[in-house]
Amino acid sequence: MIKKCGKNIIVDRGAYFGQNLEIGDYSQIGINSQLGTTPPAGIVIGNNVMMAPDVVIMTANHKHDDITVPMQGQGFEAAPVIIEDDVWIGMRAIILPGVRVGRSSIIGAGAVVAKDIPPFSIVVGNPGRVVRKRDGSPII
Ligand SMILES: CC(C)(COP(=O)(O)OP(=O)(O)OC[C@H]1O[C@@H](n2cnc3c(N)ncnc32)[C@H](O)[C@@H]1OP(=O)(O)O)[C@@H](O)C(=O)NCCC(=O)NCCS
Repeated sequence: MIKKCGKNIIVDRGAYFGQNLEIGDYSQIGINSQLGTTPPAGIVIGNNVMMAPDVVIMTANHKHDDITVPMQGQGFEAAPVIIEDDVWIGMRAIILPGVRVGRSSIIGAGAVVAKDIPPFSIVVGNPGRVVRKRDGSPII
């Protein structure tokens, strides 16, 4: 079921994931988390990633450019999600299609992440914003 699976991963109870998932060593899919992979876009999770309960990661939006056609008939726009090594994703965070979360970052509880996150960031809120850098570097 998992496309590429590292060693010593944890899949907590109630977790759902699509087929196009790659997960590295010592990483976790949190309780009741939903990792939807709409083809061809997959989810890549690095090593040592911690995931709290009820996290949602998705890789597709419904297309909606044409207002003369119901959105239901416009298909999908899929974009992969990448979670780099040593990331901690807090409870009920939502990570939207196409986002890359840089290594050693923290996604706060309830954050909605719509854009790429540079390494060592602490992100909170909706829309998710970097509030601090773990390495003391400036917030860009
Ligand atoms: C993000 C988090 C790690 C705290 O990081 P931190 O760097 O210590 O941040 P602080 O506590 O100093 O907060 C910084 C600011 O962000 C705010 N903030 C912190 N967490 C927040 C969150 N999840 N959502 C919105 N705002 C948040 C704080 O109120 C503070 O705001 P201020 O500057 O206006 O006072 C923590 O709040 C969090 O969300 N942890 C996840 C908990 C969880 O899911 N646990 C499950 C077990 S795995």
